[in-house]
Amino acid sequence: MKVLVVGGGGREHALTWKIAQSPLVERIYCAPGNAGMAALAECVAIKAEDIEALAAFARDKGIDLTVVGPEAPLVAGIADEFERHGLRVFGPGREAAQMEGSKDFAKRLMLEAGVPTGRAEVFTDIEAAKACISKGKPPFVIKADGLAAGKGVVIAQDDKAAYEALKACFVDRAFGTAGEKVLVEEFLEGQEVSILTFVDGEDILPMAPAQDYKRVGDGDTGSNTGGMGSYSPVPVLSDGDYRRAVREILEPTARALAARGIHYQGILYAGLILTSEGPKVLEFNVRFGDPETQAVLPRLKSDLVETMLAVVEGRLAGTSLEWSDEACVTVVLASGGYPGDYAKGYPISGLDEAGALEGVVVFHAGTRLGEGGEVLTDGGRVLNVSALGPDFAAARERAYRAVERIGFKDIYYRRDIALRTLEV
Ligand code: GLY
Repeated sequence: MKVLVVGGGGREHALTWKIAQSPLVERIYCAPGNAGMAALAECVAIKAEDIEALAAFARDKGIDLTVVGPEAPLVAGIADEFERHGLRVFGPGREAAQMEGSKDFAKRLMLEAGVPTGRAEVFTDIEAAKACISKGKPPFVIKADGLAAGKGVVIAQDDKAAYEALKACFVDRAFGTAGEKVLVEEFLEGQEVSILTFVDGEDILPMAPAQDYKRVGDGDTGSNTGGMGSYSPVPVLSDGDYRRAVREILEPTARALAARGIHYQGILYAGLILTSEGPKVLEFNVRFGDPETQAVLPRLKSDLVETMLAVVEGRLAGTSLEWSDEACVTVVLASGGYPGDYAKGYPISGLDEAGALEGVVVFHAGTRLGEGGEVLTDGGRVLNVSALGPDFAAARERAYRAVERIGFKDIYYRRDIALRTLEV
C-alpha cells in the first residue's frame, strides 16, 4: 500500500521510520518531510496546512492511508476533507479535534465524564478574569483556549504575571482568535507523564507511557520549548497508576466523546500530572506527541500500520500491542538560541557514525538537503537522537555517545535527559 505522512518534524520521521518497517507498505510519501525522511520516502513540497493540495495529491497518487502528524491540519479539518474524497486518513475529524483545538471544549467534556483534572474557569473578558485572579492564590495557570503553537500556557507565580498573560491574550491578541477565550486553571503539582492511546470510537488501545522535557535548560530551567528530550517507559508511573489513568481518564473520555455523537479515530494524547491524589489531566492532544513518539515507537514491536488500519477500519477492539522491555532515551539537538532566535543552514557532521552505534536511531526534526546533497540545519530543533538499551543507564549512555559524534555550529542540547530515571 501507499502511505502519505503529513508533517516534517522528528515525530513524523519516527512515524515514517516505523511505517517503513511494515511489510504492508510499498511506498511512502511525506509532505513536506525533511532530509532524514527523504532517505525513506519521497518528499513532496506541500505544507502540512495545505489541506486541499494534500487531498489532491493523495487522490492523484492513489494513497491508501494518510497519517497526519501535527495538530493544526487536524483541527482545521483535514480528516473531514479526506473522507469527503473517499480517502482513508488516520486522525480525528474537526469536531473531535476540539479536544486539542479548544481547551474549554476538552475541560467541559472532562467534567461531564468525571475525568480528574484541575479546576478551571473560562473567561472572554479581561476584567472578569482579573477579578478571579485577585480572589485566588498563585501559581495560576493561564491558558489560551485555541491552538497557540505551544506558547498559549503561562504558569504565573503572582498576580502581576497572571495579569500580563491575560493582557497578552485579550489586549495584545498575541494568539489572535485562539486567545479570545482564556482558562484560569488550578496548578497541578507533580511529575508529568504522557500516555498516548489509539482510539476507535469507544475502543482504545493505550501505548507505553513517556515523559518529555519542556524546558530548555538542565534541571528544568529556562523557557518552554517544543520538547528537549523524552524517555519511555516512565519508572515513576506505577502499574497501578497506569491502569488507573486508563480506567479513570482514557476510557471515560472515549465514552464521553461517543456519547456526544462524536466518532473519534486516531491518537488521543493525555498529558497527565501524577498528583498526590492520583493522575489528573493537564491537557489532551489529538496526535502523537513530539518528542515522546521518538522514544515510544522504537520500543514498539508490533506493526504500526496494522494498528492504524484497525483504527480507520473500525476494528481496534480485540487488537493488542507488543512492547520491548528495553528503555529508550531521546535527546533533542537544537540550534543555539532556540527557543528564541537562531540561525539555520549549517552543515551537520557525524550523522552516519552516530546512527551506526548499537541501539541508536537518529531522527531528523529541522533539517534539509543542500544543493550538494549535504544535510543542513533548518529549524530550532534539528535532530532527535534515540537510543534503546537494556536499562536507562545503558540507553542514556548510548544516546549521549551518539550525540557526541554529531556536530553543527552552535549545537545545543540538555545533558540531563532521563537522569531522573536513575534515581527512582
Ligand atoms: N510533547 C508535547 C507535545 O507533543 O505537545
